[in-house]
Amino acid sequence: MRIVTANELQGWLSQGELLEKDSNGPKVIRLPDSRIVKIFRSRRLSLIARLRPDARRFAERAERLQQLGIKTPVIDELCWIERGQSISACLYHPLQGNPLDKLFHASNADFQALLPHLAGYIHQLHQKGIYFRSLHLGNIVQTPDGGFGLIDFLDIRFKKRPLGRMLIRRNFQHLQNYLQRRKVQNFPWSELMRCYEEVSKSSS
Ligand SMILES: Nc1ncnc2c1ncn2[C@@H]1O[C@H](COP(=O)(O)OP(=O)(O)O)[C@@H](O)[C@H]1O
Ligand SMILES: [Mg+2]
Repeated sequence: MRIVTANELQGWLSQGELLEKDSNGPKVIRLPDSRIVKIFRSRRLSLIARLRPDARRFAERAERLQQLGIKTPVIDELCWIERGQSISACLYHPLQGNPLDKLFHASNADFQALLPHLAGYIHQLHQKGIYFRSLHLGNIVQTPDGGFGLIDFLDIRFKKRPLGRMLIRRNFQHLQNYLQRRKVQNFPWSELMRCYEEVSKSSS
């Protein structure tokens, strides 16, 4: 993995668009060539994080998801921002489309119409044994073909079998916690649950 120079990082920050940051600094930058830089500040033990940096884990998960037929951004490059502090980065081509939080805030009616498809998609993830701990509206993208894809999946887990009831319930709890944290009003929760139940029934 190559090491990004301080100059290059400065260039990304000054010429790119900062999409996300937190108290530790920039997290997601859109470069002028439209690629996205996602920066990982590992919380894991530094030796482990140095051997298998988060950027690499992210790229491995992208590949595994793609093998399972789940759309993700296409990873272009992995690099170190600050090796001593286990800060790594992924450069990737964005997944075309709109994150669902944007859709939800733009039009309630359009979002409602999407619910059966969204429920079907989540059900499909669960059937494939994919436990997406960051399951929330900011991390699911609706693609131009009307399908969906995932971003921000560093903490995803792959199970050998379809998820059981407990994990499914826990997974929806992640979404519910997100809605509460963000104080999202009017989310059609029971409608989403009803749609999910319906797909579960029709596929069993
Ligand atoms: N592949 C992508 N396609 C489209 N937009 C993206 C993509 N990756 C990131 N973004 C944009 O960057 C924002 C944050 O990215 P994300 O990876 O979810 O970071 P965070 O850890 O801050 O949640 C998203 O809300 C989205 O607007
Ligand atoms: Mg996110």
